[in-house]
Amino acid sequence: MAEQLRFDGQVVVVTGAGGGLGKVYALFFASRGASVVVNDLGGSFKGEGNDTKAADVVVNEIKKAGGKAVANYDSVENGERIIETAIKAFGRIDILLNNAGILRDVSFKNMTDQDWDLINKVHIKGAYKCAHAAWPHFRKQKFGRVINTASAAGLFGNFGQTNYSAAKLAMVGFTETLAKEGAKYNIICNVIAPIAASRMTETVMPPDVLENLRPDWVVPLVAVLVHKSNTSETGGIFEVGAGAMAKLRWERSSGLLLKADDSYTPGAVLKKWDKVVDFSNPQYPTGPNDFMTLLEESMKMGPNEQGEKLDFSGKVALI
Ligand code: NAI
Repeated sequence: MAEQLRFDGQVVVVTGAGGGLGKVYALFFASRGASVVVNDLGGSFKGEGNDTKAADVVVNEIKKAGGKAVANYDSVENGERIIETAIKAFGRIDILLNNAGILRDVSFKNMTDQDWDLINKVHIKGAYKCAHAAWPHFRKQKFGRVINTASAAGLFGNFGQTNYSAAKLAMVGFTETLAKEGAKYNIICNVIAPIAASRMTETVMPPDVLENLRPDWVVPLVAVLVHKSNTSETGGIFEVGAGAMAKLRWERSSGLLLKADDSYTPGAVLKKWDKVVDFSNPQYPTGPNDFMTLLEESMKMGPNEQGEKLDFSGKVALI
């Protein structure tokens, strides 16, 4: 039999590990030799209440199986206490899985400030606080692995989830920058958009679909990304679920370059709109356009053609 991917001697913090995806992460890493901090606030999926039972049940299950785990009941908004639990119990932190999450789904028209703020606090502030507290340890030991959790709702939008979508796409920018800042210190950061059966999805998906979305099937990709053997796959966005996984990347159209002078008008843009949205010869950027180079090229061009082109609604464009 092939050798297992092991995590012996490492310390893994899993936030929101009392159920769903977090629980299967915690059980997996403990079964592969890691010491695990099982964090869970134990509230409802809407972020109400708290209970120590959620984390305790998972810790007991790990210990029963001969593994090492300790519970933490803080909200991720107090991430420093969660990381402190790891340091106090096990003396280090190697891997952080920012997984805790809640939903406050409501149409944008009916959204309250509370729905907006609570989602931002748990998802964005929570991920920030945990990563920020772990960061000095990662830098010092020149090793760290982070998984942040986005969502298809964040990547593509979803009805009733403006708050959640905004917070989940924030995880992408957060991860991309962490990956850049961490590279020098062997801190590898990736973001996943998972799909799995959990209390979050059980009310919105039929049972036969949920049966085929076991949370365990998200684990292998996460394990590969956070293993010490991964020293280069960082800053990536991955969709994962039901045995499928894929990496996403940005795509930029071949684009339009205009002469930057007085002839650079809305009409000049509309005249060549097709080029702005032309993906036939795309780039796959990992950084912004080089605007100085573009400006130099633009300077060499002749004046822009104007106006006569039709706009989107078929009317003659104004300059
Ligand atoms: P879940 O509701 O089963 O698990 C989330 C856990 O986080 C719960 O145990 C909850 O008590 C804990 N939690 C909530 N707020 C917390 C806080 N402030 N501090 C500490 N713990 C807190 O949900 P599931 O599905 O396992 O979700 C895990 C992550 O994956 C979430 O970030 C979720 O947004 C994300 N996700 C899940 C998808 C799915 O298909 N299940 C789809 C896309 C994203």
